[in-house]
Amino acid sequence: MNVLTENPFIIVDELIKKIKNEANIIVVDFHAEATAEKVAMGNFLDGKANIVFGTHTHVLTADERILPKGTAYITDIGMTGPINSVIGMDIKASLKRFVTTLPEKYKIAEGKCMLTGCIFDINEEDCRIKEIHRINIQ
Ligand SMILES: [Fe+2]
Repeated sequence: MNVLTENPFIIVDELIKKIKNEANIIVVDFHAEATAEKVAMGNFLDGKANIVFGTHTHVLTADERILPKGTAYITDIGMTGPINSVIGMDIKASLKRFVTTLPEKYKIAEGKCMLTGCIFDINEEDCRIKEIHRINIQ
């Protein structure tokens, strides 16, 4: 991903301070490449956001948990798209890019699809997360 000009940890802190009195439930989608950055963000927002999940890598991770101060967290919720693919892209086109290092137009793969993600069970009384469940439907 492109290099950022602003620090997302500082920006998200400011944004949550702005909305926390207006929102009952705060959900943060941290679109990032590195696992460590996503785990750090989850812990940074523990107790400030109700749910923090990562996106971008397109692969559902198996580390869902409720952090010590009550924030539901998972590193990546995965993707919805073709199963037989390279994170959604046509396998032949993707392999050509990696093997030859030559540019190749991205082409979306075809065929049977999957849906991955999470279901967050929220207590309606206090908006605390009760449970987090991974889903992987094929
Ligand atoms: Fe992305």
